[in-house]
Amino acid sequence: MKIIKSIKEMQSLALSFRRGGKRIAFVPTMGFLHDGHASLLREGRCLGDLLMLSIFVNPIQFGQNEDLDRYPRDMERDCSIAAECGVDILFNPDAEEMYPQGFQTGVTVREISLPLCGASRPGHFDGVATVVTKLFNIVQPDVALFGCKDYQQLAVIRRMTADLSLPVEIVGMPIIREADGLAMSSRNAYLSPTERKSALCLFRAITRARNLYAAGERSVEVLLDETKAVIELEPSVRIEYVEFRDGTTLKDLKVADNGTLLALAVKIGQTRLIDNTVLGEEL
Ligand code: PAJ
Repeated sequence: MKIIKSIKEMQSLALSFRRGGKRIAFVPTMGFLHDGHASLLREGRCLGDLLMLSIFVNPIQFGQNEDLDRYPRDMERDCSIAAECGVDILFNPDAEEMYPQGFQTGVTVREISLPLCGASRPGHFDGVATVVTKLFNIVQPDVALFGCKDYQQLAVIRRMTADLSLPVEIVGMPIIREADGLAMSSRNAYLSPTERKSALCLFRAITRARNLYAAGERSVEVLLDETKAVIELEPSVRIEYVEFRDGTTLKDLKVADNGTLLALAVKIGQTRLIDNTVLGEEL
């Protein structure tokens, strides 16, 4: 596995691969890799002749009071997971390489960025859309893989790729969970053992909503009350949002149907966790 830090080097290598008729699969990440990331890499390995991984903790997608400075990092461990998953090239630029002095351009995806995480993290999806556009221009992938764990992010990137006619196929991958149901996340590393237990209320809430839906409940008002009630049983957990929305447009709705998204964000101590499920689809 080759590690590249320079944009120029990455770009010219990618170009030479493409000229040679090779198909490039790409998984962008912020590192501290876990089995969720690994599932994207393994699928990417099957979808391309070459598998590229980026690890870049993107400063412009973090708000002022967020966890940029303490975001977990372990390059050595990440490299061994990447190698195990068959990564050919790891692109790992620093912030100065990606955002040199004078940088002032951004990509905004409008409506779909506004609700849910966009409402609680203003500017977040501008930062994501901008870095993903840059990464696509640098790595020049034929196919890029993203997790449904960050459901709105995937929707924003799909919208952006279509709107800007980016020549990249976007593949969405299922959420990988711990054995007890907690969605894997680099941020789970922040949780104390007690907080880790409290965090299970997210999966309990999702399960409750899915069971009610399976039993025929379609009223979003009822589903919402019941879902929130499960989380409210955990006094240490603060709800940021719990919402049912159209799974494609993210518009709000009153009646749930197959394809309806249940999206949740909570704060446990200093740690912000998100999770989601799509009704009528497998967990
Ligand atoms: P990061 O949080 O490192 O996630 C990288 C990719 O892994 C994302 O597509 C995310 O949805 C996916 N992922 C994370 N946890 C997962 C899980 N439990 N199951 C399946 N997939 C999972 O998302 C980002 O980085 C950044 O915003 C990025 C797109 C790299 C732009 O900076």
